[in-house]
Parts: sequence; structure tokens; C-alpha cells
Amino acid sequence: MRIAGSVALVTGANRGLGRAYARELVGRGAAKVFGAARQPGQVAEPGVIPVALDITDPQRVAAVAAECADVSLLVNNAGVMQASTFIGAPNLAAARAEMETNYFGTLGMCRAFAPALAANGGGAIVNMLSIASFYTNPFSASYGASKAAAWSLTNGVRLELHHQGTLVVAVHAGFIDTDMAALVDVPKISPESVAKMVFDAVEAGQIEVLADERTRTVKASLPRDHELTYPPIQEFWDAAVQGQTR
Ligand SMILES: NC(=O)c1ccc[n+]([C@@H]2O[C@H](COP(=O)([O-])OP(=O)(O)OC[C@H]3O[C@@H](n4cnc5c(N)ncnc54)[C@H](OP(=O)(O)O)[C@@H]3O)[C@@H](O)[C@H]2O)c1
Repeated sequence: MRIAGSVALVTGANRGLGRAYARELVGRGAAKVFGAARQPGQVAEPGVIPVALDITDPQRVAAVAAECADVSLLVNNAGVMQASTFIGAPNLAAARAEMETNYFGTLGMCRAFAPALAANGGGAIVNMLSIASFYTNPFSASYGASKAAAWSLTNGVRLELHHQGTLVVAVHAGFIDTDMAALVDVPKISPESVAKMVFDAVEAGQIEVLADERTRTVKASLPRDHELTYPPIQEFWDAAVQGQTR
């Protein structure tokens, strides 16, 4: 689909990658860009129309889908990561919050906007997933589970919306230089570079974006993940646990 002249809505548009998505859409000549955020007053990007939206609130999701019925490009970017293990976490609160936002929130948005996309010629959905869709890292275990679930829903939504001509794009990335990755001191790609790749893919009709080398390697290693991907993670995790118990 062409971005120029399209009407787009980006969730979590107030900061980080969502803000970069919104800016890139304006730059590519989208006719209208709705910047959805829990705090719409924080959406300050020129040319972006603020919309109040918490994607875990089904009533608000339905209301925004009705208010923004001209949308032809939905960018499901909003997400949370609470750096929580499966076993060591004190309770299930983080796991539930991540699933509620990253999986159920994204699913609710896809369901709410599917009729508008059909009415507007099919359009496209971009779902912001992660390298963590492909493997579990104990440092952010329940986040990975929520992104794996969101990957599954993305593949399913693509199948279910094919008949109406909706392009469904899965975006997987390793570390991106935003607040979410602020505490990790590793090489990161810029949110602007991800936004460019993603909208190039939308315009080219591609269904998957693997945004960096590590993500491409991990995806290619899936058939042999227990030989290639997990052993170094196990080693790192065991060392971290031993460091704590020493
Ligand atoms: N940064 C990375 O390394 C990385 C890597 C791979 C994938 N991702 C994914 O990229 C996406 C964007 O993350 P980011 O890096 O830009 O992180 P970020 O800087 O933490 O921003 C997260 C955004 O999501 C919004 N959000 C969270 N829960 C929401 C809800 N219930 N309703 C509406 N908005 C909500 C936040 O709004 P508030 O300001 O109100 O909290 C914020 O705008 C996420 O899906 C994340 O999982 C990030």
C-alpha cells in the first residue's frame, strides 16, 4: 500500500518507537496520522493528531475505532516490558500486565479496526513484536511469552484478513534505543531506522521485518535453537544466578 495519502493510527505514539513511527508517517505524506496514547497531551509531534487510548480498555478501543473509521494503516506499537522471570517473580502481576497489553491489547485493536480497514480498501496492520517472540530470555521471560503470543496472533490475523486484502506485517527487533531498553548497555538500533524499514516493507507488501542482524540470526536458527540459541543464554543465566547466591 502507499503511505502517501493514507490515514494511519499509531498506538503508544507519545514516545520511543511510536513517536518515530508517527513522524515517519507524516514525512511520507500520510493524509492523517492519529497518535494514540494513554496521555494524549504528550503527543507533540507536528502533524500528528492526539487521541486518548489505553489499548487494554475495550470500551475505549471500540470508541476510537468508531471515531477513526477512516484509518487504512494501523500500527500496533504500544507495549510493556517488566523484566520479569517466570519462577523468581514474586507473583503473576508482571506476566499478566505484559499479556494484557502486548497480546490482548494488540488483539483487541486488530479486531476493532478490521471492519474499517475492509471498508477502506484493505489497508495494513503493523504489529510490533520482538526478537523475544522467537526465544525465551529469563531476564524478560514473561515479556517473551507475550510477544510469542502476539507473533501467533499476527500470523492468524493475516490468514483471517487475507480475504479483505489487509496486509499484516510482523516486525521483530532486538534492542532499540528507547526508554524500554535504557537500562541495557548494548548496541541498539535507532527507532528512526526501524520506522523506515517498516514503512518500506508496508509499501513493498512484505509481511515480515527482521530489523537487525541478531534478529535475523535467531530466526534463521529456530530449527536448531536448542543447539545454537539457548546454550549461551543458559550459561549467562547460570552465571547470574551463581553470582547472586555466592
Ligand atoms: N526498545 C526495544 O528494545 C524494543 C525491542 C523490540 C520490540 N520493542 C517493542 O516496540 C514497541 C515500542 O516500545 P518502545 O521501545 O518505544 O518502548 P517505550 O519507550 O517503553 O514505549 C512504550 C510505549 O507504549 C505505550 N503503552 C504501554 N502500555 C500502553 C497501553 N496499555 N495503552 C497505550 N499505550 C501503551 C507507552 O505509553 P506510556 O508513555 O503511557 O507508558 C509508550 O508510548 C513495544 O511493543 C516494544 O515491546 C521494543
